[in-house]
Amino acid sequence: MSAGQPVSSTALPLGEWLPQLSETIDRLAYPTQQRGLALSLGVGGRLWSQLLAPRQKRPDLDAIRELGERFEALLAADLANVRAGAYPRELLYQFPLLEYLSKLPEALVDVPRFLFRSWAGNHADLPAASDSGLYPDYYRRNFHWQTDGWLSSRSARLYDASVEFLFGGTADVMRRMAIPPITELARQRRRPLRILDIGCGTGRFLRQLSRALPDARFYGLDLSRHYISEARSHFSAEEDVSLVVENAESMPFGSSTFDVVTSVFMFHELPKPVRRKVAREARRVLAKGGLFVVCDSAQLSDSAAIADVLNGFPESYHEPFYRGYLRDDLATVLEECGFAAPSSAPHLVSKVVAATKRGR
Ligand SMILES: C[S@@+](CC[C@H](N)C(=O)[O-])C[C@H]1O[C@@H](n2cnc3c(N)ncnc32)[C@H](O)[C@@H]1O
Repeated sequence: MSAGQPVSSTALPLGEWLPQLSETIDRLAYPTQQRGLALSLGVGGRLWSQLLAPRQKRPDLDAIRELGERFEALLAADLANVRAGAYPRELLYQFPLLEYLSKLPEALVDVPRFLFRSWAGNHADLPAASDSGLYPDYYRRNFHWQTDGWLSSRSARLYDASVEFLFGGTADVMRRMAIPPITELARQRRRPLRILDIGCGTGRFLRQLSRALPDARFYGLDLSRHYISEARSHFSAEEDVSLVVENAESMPFGSSTFDVVTSVFMFHELPKPVRRKVAREARRVLAKGGLFVVCDSAQLSDSAAIADVLNGFPESYHEPFYRGYLRDDLATVLEECGFAAPSSAPHLVSKVVAATKRGR
């Protein structure tokens, strides 16, 4: 080609070529990363569950095939969400492997206590705390048999890594399936949203959400001061996230305060009447037309194909309200509690239900 000759019309300009290249890289690199995590962590997690409940029925071939398909669908949905601009590409590669590996010695030391507690069925093995009267009965227990329940900084330090271990590296991926309905609302409103995450734990979901919506105002609420303290350690002062220790059944916020309320992996740990109390409270603090997004375990109404896997979870882990939760369809609960038009989508062993506040 001689100097001054126009560039061929089939050549893509750099601005289009680079996104296509990064998309191609993501299609290869991201599933490879997740399959590697699933193989290494998932196999360990499976063995751990068997150790906790040796007589537990193993998933049959149909359930394993179904889980495999759901896993691939989850990764495809994650890539599609990035392509659609629902959240940034950096989230695909944020798995903090080194940070989690650094927790391993502390977690290993805890293994014998954990196992003996589960074999003895002792779910009241909690630290003697002066503030124990602050917590409802359903809360004061060793959920998942974890040491100290929700009531120590050690539990809060180990929680994120242990959840990823349990879910084979897909916990954050399932959490961020709750982001697209929120970014969609932000596009429609064209102003920064006020967003509250209830039962925010160590703030994993808030951290992902704040990458997707850097202009939003974020609030997190949890009943454990140890988890809130851990969450605080992950946000800088500039990020200006307000975190409070309170009960989601009765929140210290005025009515109609938020555009969005979210809840991730909390509803399955609440007794049936409390699930409704919390949903009604979420409705109260939402502004007119506000959005409630719940990400939690899949339920039997949408995931009969993996019923044995779901029913097996409380055999390995202390989850006293989970069996009832499996049969208490979340979309129906939200309709009962004053929300309209719930959408519901399964993602691997979780689901996301999003619904709009009905009335004022
Ligand atoms: C399974 S953890 C989920 C934490 C976090 N959302 C996540 O994505 O990992 C459940 C959380 O709900 C909190 N929680 C349970 N009952 C609560 C209540 N009534 N009010 C506020 N927080 C509650 C617990 O302290 C715990 O941090």
